[in-house]
Amino acid sequence: MALLEVDDIHVFYGNIEALRGLSIQVDGGEMVAVLGSNGAGKTTTLRTLSGLERARAGSVRFDDQDITRTAAHEIVGRGLCQVPEGRRIFTTLTVAENLALGGYLMRNRQQELRQRRDVVYETFPRLAERRGQLAGTLSGGEQQMLAIGRALMTQPRLITLDEPSLGLSPLLARAILKIVRRFADEGVAVLVVEQNARQALAVADRAYVLETGRIVLEGAASDLAADERVQKAYLGGFEQIVEEEEGREKEKEKEDPSPLGGG
Ligand SMILES: Nc1ncnc2c1ncn2[C@@H]1O[C@H](COP(=O)(O)OP(=O)(O)O)[C@@H](O)[C@H]1O
Ligand SMILES: [Mg+2]
Repeated sequence: MALLEVDDIHVFYGNIEALRGLSIQVDGGEMVAVLGSNGAGKTTTLRTLSGLERARAGSVRFDDQDITRTAAHEIVGRGLCQVPEGRRIFTTLTVAENLALGGYLMRNRQQELRQRRDVVYETFPRLAERRGQLAGTLSGGEQQMLAIGRALMTQPRLITLDEPSLGLSPLLARAILKIVRRFADEGVAVLVVEQNARQALAVADRAYVLETGRIVLEGAASDLAADERVQKAYLGGFEQIVEEEEGREKEKEKEDPSPLGGG
């Protein structure tokens, strides 16, 4: 039995069927990517797992329990935490205050809270340096670190991320995906939704391709990266590759040796 088992879910917005019988699985310690173009249903998938949208049919099981109709806050408490699209941090609160809110479930256990915060600061030294700074004054990459850090505060067993690299430079996008890869290696399962297919496939164990609310392709990340259909649809042609390479060159010129801070 996998840690997460999504079986044939159907999710509607009014009479628009956004998910049409979607099934995915994530094992403990696994990093799984979901690829798909705009409007495919990626966000809806993550929101449904978190209890923010409801499946009209089908089921979501987490850690051997049915959570299809479980309240969102309770799902977080059971160890499934989402880093939402667009980060959603509190811009008028400090870094430390944002993290404390992430740990609200342990608000009565100060020692545990401090321990979790130390783990987050070890993971993202840049956040430790900026702990007293208002979140709204952080760079895009630092805000994404904070959004991920806030999720880590809940001590998740599965962390889901909705386009964490959106709006970040290729360098920072890679750094973020690599650190998320490390979570999986340390036993926290990861389900990441990405439009940045090339980078996601480079670090994930497995991947699914989502098209109009259904999984149309799945397999080992390395197999999908080599798949002609995936290359055509998601890895771009010559022009996109040239563009990415150009971006990489530009970044090399101003390369920050440690984009996540510290060291
Ligand atoms: N709140 C909403 N109300 C109505 N339709 C929505 C809503 N959110 C998403 N949709 C529709 O559901 C489909 C899937 O959207 P979404 O899950 O956001 O896709 P993705 O994240 O892959 O871009 C799209 O057709 C989108 O227009
Ligand atoms: Mg989306």
